Amino acid sequence: MLHAIGFDKVYERAEGAYLYDADGQRYADFLAGFGVFGVGRNHPVVRQALHDMLDAELADMVQFQCGLLPGLLAERLLAKADGMDRVYFCNSGTEAVEAALKFARYATGRSRILYCDHAFHGLTVGSLSVNGSAEFRRGFDPLLPDGCVPFGDLDALERELRAGDVAALIAEPVQGKGAHVAPQGYLAAAAKLLHDHGALLIADEVQTGIGRTGRFFGYQHDDVEPDIVTVAKALSGGFAPVGATLAKSWIFEKVYSSMDRVLVHDSTFGSNAAAMTAGLATLAVVEDEQLVTNAEQTGKLLRDALQDMVEEYELLIDVRGRGLIIGLEFGKPRSLKLRTGWNMLSAARRGLFAQMVVVALFEKHRILTQVSGDFMDVIKLLPPLTITETEVNLFRDAFADVMKDAHKGSGLMWDFGRTLVRQAVAR
Ligand SMILES: Cc1ncc(COP(=O)(O)O)c(C=O)c1O
Repeated sequence: MLHAIGFDKVYERAEGAYLYDADGQRYADFLAGFGVFGVGRNHPVVRQALHDMLDAELADMVQFQCGLLPGLLAERLLAKADGMDRVYFCNSGTEAVEAALKFARYATGRSRILYCDHAFHGLTVGSLSVNGSAEFRRGFDPLLPDGCVPFGDLDALERELRAGDVAALIAEPVQGKGAHVAPQGYLAAAAKLLHDHGALLIADEVQTGIGRTGRFFGYQHDDVEPDIVTVAKALSGGFAPVGATLAKSWIFEKVYSSMDRVLVHDSTFGSNAAAMTAGLATLAVVEDEQLVTNAEQTGKLLRDALQDMVEEYELLIDVRGRGLIIGLEFGKPRSLKLRTGWNMLSAARRGLFAQMVVVALFEKHRILTQVSGDFMDVIKLLPPLTITETEVNLFRDAFADVMKDAHKGSGLMWDFGRTLVRQAVAR
């Protein structure tokens, strides 16, 4: 797959928002390792903290101990999350979600978890049970008892809740697949409905957390206090895998209710010193460099610049997002000249036009992006939160050039489109 789309590069070095290949060519990273590199790549403060941690020869993973580093990191995370009291540390986003699902089920004594269409919460079995895309779930049934509701639809949520068996709704404040933003007020209204029916709200902040949307947590755009919050990706500083599940005290107290239950949900590597150190250093960088504010302001600058192109380029139909998670959606053009090419790509496989744009951005302008999900004509921008006007302008100019080429309806870009069609049909 990497070869087919020309992504089979070997990178030798990385710094901030840029990757460098063996020939010294520079690539702008608007993918950030699926959101891991919020503070940019190889940030010197995080690196130094990890060097210091190694040199300190700590007594790590004793297991039966009161660790200082997890305590400090939990304290810093909780300071950003009003209403949350406790933190469970693990090693990835999907593990943070698994903990959230188990905690919600145990605390409510109910089994069913609701999720939204297009949702993505990870790929282990529990997380897969709340995945909103059939292509991920196919072949892995039976999964956990679940229920899917349209993202933003409160009536559908209420209908599901009436059954009385729902433990929680899990939702992303901005969905990673498609970069759909939760309608204003949705999470707050959903929380009220859930609580009225004895169920919980889990905010999955694995991708949106640690400043990505221009707030520390994405749910903070709404006037809402979730019951459980999951974090991972950017907390790692791009170095040490980490996940965290934040929740209210009463939930932890139910799950870990007695001496017999202290290990009822646990992970050997959770709270290891490397992950905790990277997390602490990352939060320090986010604060010192005011990256949450930067994500909000730079994100707006980038979205506004791209929004201006919707009028000009008929293939571009929507620009959406929050902070520095941005979706660019393409759609069927009006003019006959472009419609033939569009139909050819769409008939072979939905999403091929977006793939063609991703490849053109990469090959011609050395900018790394991704199609935002299978069968979607949406590309997603997820750059480090450290980017400035320089990268905004770089992307704006490159994207305008690619759109210009695409609107010619012929040429190299469409030739490559035909190659993609041949590959899709050959499958
Ligand atoms: C919202 C969300 N939740 C959970 C996950 C799973 O995280 P991980 O890949 O670390 O297991 C992801 C990963 O993309 C995600 O975007």
